[in-house]
Amino acid sequence: MLNALLSRAMSGEKIAMLTCYDATFAKLMHLAGVDMLLVGDSLGMVIQGGDSTLGVTMQDMLYHTRIVAKGAPGAVIMSDMPVDSYEHDLADALQNAQALIEAGAHIVKIEGGGHMVETARYLVENGVPVCAHLGFTPQSVEKLGGYKIQGKTEAAGQVILKDAQEMATAGASMVLFEMVPAALATHITETISVPTIGIGAGAGCSGQVLVLQDLLGIYTGPAEKNPQDYKAPRFAQNFLGQTGNIEKAIINYVQAVKCGEFPAAQHSY
Ligand code: KIV
Repeated sequence: MLNALLSRAMSGEKIAMLTCYDATFAKLMHLAGVDMLLVGDSLGMVIQGGDSTLGVTMQDMLYHTRIVAKGAPGAVIMSDMPVDSYEHDLADALQNAQALIEAGAHIVKIEGGGHMVETARYLVENGVPVCAHLGFTPQSVEKLGGYKIQGKTEAAGQVILKDAQEMATAGASMVLFEMVPAALATHITETISVPTIGIGAGAGCSGQVLVLQDLLGIYTGPAEKNPQDYKAPRFAQNFLGQTGNIEKAIINYVQAVKCGEFPAAQHSY
């Protein structure tokens, strides 16, 4: 299923991806034509009420991966490897990645380039498909000094390009860009040999991903914070407002991605 999707992406079809954390939405999204479900560690915020992804554990990811796979056995599922599950030791990374695959994922996502290239290579060599998450990497939010666009300067863009190329050469099946200039993501997409997925990375990627709660316009920040203090990111788009119907909102998102209407310039950097 994953390989067929990758081939469609490489032949020019835009891939519509959404985050998904439970069986009900998994079934709904699959029937609505979402190409790939991401069991994202964004669940640390939108499900658990935290202010980052840093509290998410392997147990959390296994639980949510299992119930998403149960809800949509025919869907292609990507699962995030949570913080501390892959960065320190190759054997641990492989064991955790294999556990996510056993739980129902078809591919795992790891954050970062540089020394993570070796981890990606090791997972792939041992039979685990990998997506590399580059640009803004939420597990490094503290190191990056907050939610900031990455790759804005020529030099920073070159680093992201190099990371993407090295990840593709190491065997990563996909590269995901978060919050990078649209021109950079488009250029890298045209340069590397694997499909790219964007979130806040412009329309030039091979596909798009959105957090479900952003598509529904229902996320108002961490549990303990005043909703009025929360500002949705620029790349978020409420598709529910137009229709009042969740299923239709998801179908509209898929269509907007497929025909290149989403993201528009106002969602990009
Ligand atoms: O966890 C997540 O939802 C993600 C997306 C922001 C791409 O990684």
